[in-house]
Amino acid sequence: MLSITRLKKAYAETPVFADVSLDIARGEFVAMLGESGVGKSTLLNCIAGLDEADAGEIVLDREAVRTLSEPGRARLRREKLGFVFQAFHLLPHLSVAENVALPLLLLDRPDGQRVAQLLAAVGLAGLGARSPAQLSGGQLQRVALARALVHRPLLILADEPTGNLDPATASRMLDVLQAQVRAEGAACLLVTHSAAAAARADRVLRLTATGIVAEAGSP
Ligand SMILES: Nc1ncnc2c1ncn2[C@@H]1O[C@H](COP(=O)(O)OP(=O)(O)O)[C@@H](O)[C@H]1O
Ligand SMILES: [Mg+2]
Repeated sequence: MLSITRLKKAYAETPVFADVSLDIARGEFVAMLGESGVGKSTLLNCIAGLDEADAGEIVLDREAVRTLSEPGRARLRREKLGFVFQAFHLLPHLSVAENVALPLLLLDRPDGQRVAQLLAAVGLAGLGARSPAQLSGGQLQRVALARALVHRPLLILADEPTGNLDPATASRMLDVLQAQVRAEGAACLLVTHSAAAAARADRVLRLTATGIVAEAGSP
């Protein structure tokens, strides 16, 4: 479903990765480890068409991301991707429920029941009317997860989605993520520093300074 071939990316004179190849099939839950600064977030942004690689190919659900126009990439994100950003990126002037509902509205598929279901699944039932400013970091992270899943995306890109959570809550959030992947025949690429999160994955990859994505061994 996702196929990355020889992807290369640099910022001006600073190389980030030089040769990343990676395949993810439907139903797969893949964890990616890698030291801070090695380019994990940059790779997710390139997959989502939010950042531009310098060479190589990214094919998502038979669409070549790098050759799409900007409106084409926006459509691809809307229809096929759920992204849990490391910095959440919630809209501050919308309520929690409105933030979660946004992907459905952009697809012209409003569904209040689905929004409520997701808020309950991430343990935030009853907080939908609040403003993001009234939530803790861990709660914001769970809103970001609910928003990424609400429209049943084909591929979920999750950038350290349990980094602000206690171990018990983190484990429940991974349950939610994994259940969605299984139920919808979706796939997930989970960037994490957590051994507990990686241990749940079908496969564990490591992004290294040379840019090669190598198997780090099964959990
Ligand atoms: N917009 C940018 N402009 C210049 N350098 C950047 C930019 N974004 C990230 N970098 C650099 O690219 C490298 C990879 O960053 P990042 O993908 O955030 O790493 P990770 O998520 O693995 O911690 C880092 O050296 C970072 O400083
Ligand atoms: Mg990062």
